Amino acid sequence: MVSRLFGVRFEEPSPAPTPGEVMAAFPARPGLYVHIPFCRTICPFCPYNKVPYEAGPAADYLRSLRHEAAAYLAEAAGPFPSLYVGGGTPTLCLDGLEDLLGRLPVAGERAIEVLPSHMTPAGAARMFDIGFDFVSLGVQSFDPEVLRRLRRPTSPQQNRKAIETAVGRFSCVDVDLIFDVAYDRPQVLLDDLATCFEYGVDQVSTYPLMRFGFTPFGKSRHHRAREHRLLAEAAGLAAGFGYQRRAVWTFNRPGSPSYTSITRPYHLGLGAGASSFAGRWFTVNHFGLDHYQRALDAGRLPIARLARLPRPAAAAYRAFWQAYTGCTPLHSEDPLLRHPVAAASRAVSRAMGWARRRGEAVVLTPSGYDRYHDLERWVTYHLIEPLWAEMTGEHHREGTEPAESPGDAHHRSSH
Ligand SMILES: C[S@@+](CC[C@H](N)C(=O)[O-])C[C@H]1O[C@@H](n2cnc3c(N)ncnc32)[C@H](O)[C@@H]1O
Ligand code: SF4
Repeated sequence: MVSRLFGVRFEEPSPAPTPGEVMAAFPARPGLYVHIPFCRTICPFCPYNKVPYEAGPAADYLRSLRHEAAAYLAEAAGPFPSLYVGGGTPTLCLDGLEDLLGRLPVAGERAIEVLPSHMTPAGAARMFDIGFDFVSLGVQSFDPEVLRRLRRPTSPQQNRKAIETAVGRFSCVDVDLIFDVAYDRPQVLLDDLATCFEYGVDQVSTYPLMRFGFTPFGKSRHHRAREHRLLAEAAGLAAGFGYQRRAVWTFNRPGSPSYTSITRPYHLGLGAGASSFAGRWFTVNHFGLDHYQRALDAGRLPIARLARLPRPAAAAYRAFWQAYTGCTPLHSEDPLLRHPVAAASRAVSRAMGWARRRGEAVVLTPSGYDRYHDLERWVTYHLIEPLWAEMTGEHHREGTEPAESPGDAHHRSSH
């Protein structure tokens, strides 16, 4: 099958590229991403690749993950600069991850997404012993009504306890918040943010709820102007607490490191549904666990789609994610940031008042943050959603799609 997204063809590669070909495509050493696609309960708004957790399939999956890692490691000269373990709920599989991390050479930070109820004192000690030093807590809100509407498996108390346990224990503690201007009292996000700032977390990521048509929440309209207004209020509140806006949706304590998965210049993804950006190549692994494992069992990489990007498209993609961080260096060794397309996007941003020069970098202005917020939403709905909707079809074919829990039908009608 071939999917075409804005002129870029995502093809089923035949034959799949070899690990040596993938590694050779990277212009610089990539950050490592590892995907754990299991959750105990499925949240109806969540678009990420996941299936309900069962011990047997999880153990089989981790075995395949080790095979995939070994295939790339045989071609890698030296350590990876960073590791990010996301999901799903990676903290359901800490034993398997301990074994995997023991095999992965990583020079920099090792980050993991944590369901707040798993950040107990014992859980924190275990994650730390395994080698994780950056953690992200999926708090979403401290408001019981918001948590109920999102059907989150954690309570406001568990969310608070998780933060109290994590802050000061890890080199970087990020808290994820979700806001939904269509339904929330806007004050909820501001109260939630203030709570995080009072706890002194290193970073707060405030995501607007994205509504993917293939999730039980289904599609719904955004209120663009209200989102802009709320983000501007959030930025003002953050400044009052001495926090800096470092990316479109993130606020950091001064001096804290940034917790980030998507703004690595290049990344190599391992696991079902993981993607890799290697400059001229963008690859997506099989989403279905059987598809993923069968490929590895047959001695192939589990790459389901490969897009060969023309150089200008690769430069535009690279420039987009660099700008998303709020700061693009004027001088870079990265060939894609030196490409005329990247230079032109900086020039247009400055001419439109979305960015301005600060020292040897170009930084986003408040109106630039709003434009990037809009662009990010556009990328989500026009590039990511169609691809993930198609790839999620593998679950339907395997009969492993997450079952709708009672009450989801209500969510579909009310969103
Ligand atoms: C894989 S999840 C987090 C890890 C863990 N499974 C949990 O739920 O706590 C990563 C983050 O994505 C964000 N997220 C999930 N679905 C979203 C959506 N539809 N729109 C915006 N953000 C979303 C949430 O903030 C979530 O914490
Ligand atoms: S939000 Fe987290 S716990 Fe909920 S389904 Fe998504 S990955 Fe799983």
